[in-house]
Amino acid sequence: KKAQAWSALFSEPMSELVKRYTSSVFFDKRLWRADIAGSLAHAEMLAAQGIISAADLADIERGMAQIRAEIEAGQFEWKLDLEDVHLNIEARLTTLVGDAGKRLHTGRSRNDQVATDVRLWLRDEIDATAVLLADMQRALVSVAEKNVDTILPGFTHLQVAQPVSFAHHLLAYVEMFARDAERLADLRKRVNRLPLGSAALAGTSYPLDRERVARTLGFEAVCQNSLDAVSDRDFAIEYTAFASLVMIHVSRLAEEIVVWMSQNFGFINLSDRYCTGSSIMPQKRNPDVAELARGKSGRVVGHLMGLITLMKGQPLAYNKDNQEDKEPLFDTVDTVNDTLRIMAEMIGGEVAADGSRSGGLTVRKDAMERAALRGYATATDLADYLVKKGLPFRDAHEVVAHAVKDAIALGKDLAELPLETLQGYDARITADVAEALTLAGSLNARSTLGGTAPVQVRAQIERHHARLG
Ligand code: ARG
Repeated sequence: KKAQAWSALFSEPMSELVKRYTSSVFFDKRLWRADIAGSLAHAEMLAAQGIISAADLADIERGMAQIRAEIEAGQFEWKLDLEDVHLNIEARLTTLVGDAGKRLHTGRSRNDQVATDVRLWLRDEIDATAVLLADMQRALVSVAEKNVDTILPGFTHLQVAQPVSFAHHLLAYVEMFARDAERLADLRKRVNRLPLGSAALAGTSYPLDRERVARTLGFEAVCQNSLDAVSDRDFAIEYTAFASLVMIHVSRLAEEIVVWMSQNFGFINLSDRYCTGSSIMPQKRNPDVAELARGKSGRVVGHLMGLITLMKGQPLAYNKDNQEDKEPLFDTVDTVNDTLRIMAEMIGGEVAADGSRSGGLTVRKDAMERAALRGYATATDLADYLVKKGLPFRDAHEVVAHAVKDAIALGKDLAELPLETLQGYDARITADVAEALTLAGSLNARSTLGGTAPVQVRAQIERHHARLG
């Protein structure tokens, strides 16, 4: 009997500590579907090339069907001694079908096997993330549609700057998530390439048909250099970099939701389904989901740092370091997918089978507008008004600064100053200034492409509808 799973070379059994330290089965068993799919595609090609017999292929297929059923039923016995998902499945296959199981690994190494498995697994997850990113955008657009004419103060430096449409504000996030979706579609192309056939590092002496395996597994192309194929994890790093950007965008939105929900803003309310209470303060309703989403961005950015540091300094080709790619990648995928799902639902409500929405965040139009009327949000509009009357912009800026200073001292808004007072700053001011100083007037004026004027915002909503379907 061999002292170890893989070879008679070893005369001593592995130390228990080392076994636990090097084993990955308790996390990489998650790759089992991809591992079986990869093995079946490899076996099918081995048979087509005459490297194994049709009978061997049939045995392998029968064994794998049983293993799949065992795993699905929770009856498969994962063994720490067998180190990882690959050796666990292969050992079980050999127990079930004998020599055919031992022939499966012909022309293959765990090095090209694991790289293939991770890519296959990640490709499916990417497709799930893509759907969730689109759902997130739809949720934001659904709230935006109802709030084109809802006005809140736009901020810079978190100081009141200029009035903006709440829809416009939400659509800013739609743009961010749309770019994230573009990045995802782009990186998917590089994930979707086949390492199998690279074997341990140098390729193999068997007449493998790599293109055939690629077609069977739905890969767009075959990795063109065996050393690169088994060793680089840049595709996983790319996903994690993408995920970091998604989570940073979510985190900014979550931060705004937390702020808007605070009594001092009171711009929105969240349904009870997404709030938590306090064990001591009976009045509390806390936006925990948004806070956690903001917090979880930290772990995803951490995983990005972990993975790029993991890769740095590894000599070609495969090194065991790469086993450390899985937990950060798995956690990144879970975190980004869970976060997108829950945030989309909290914002846009639950989507029924017929596409209708229920729940979602409540917008407090009055509170937003009241806030927009404080803080001299239309000061720029007064300056622009004077420019239209012939004053150079820099002079207009100065005139309005004086007016704001006086208005602050009087405790009044610009729109509340009598016309005569305004005319004291510049004689060109006439009664039509009133319209320029309203929130709606301010919005309507900003009708450059991409601006906050309702006509522009509606056009953007139409564009997103067409894009998102
Ligand atoms: N569990 C290993 C990993 O995740 C599989 C590849 C092992 N290869 C090897 N030569 N030890 O990377």
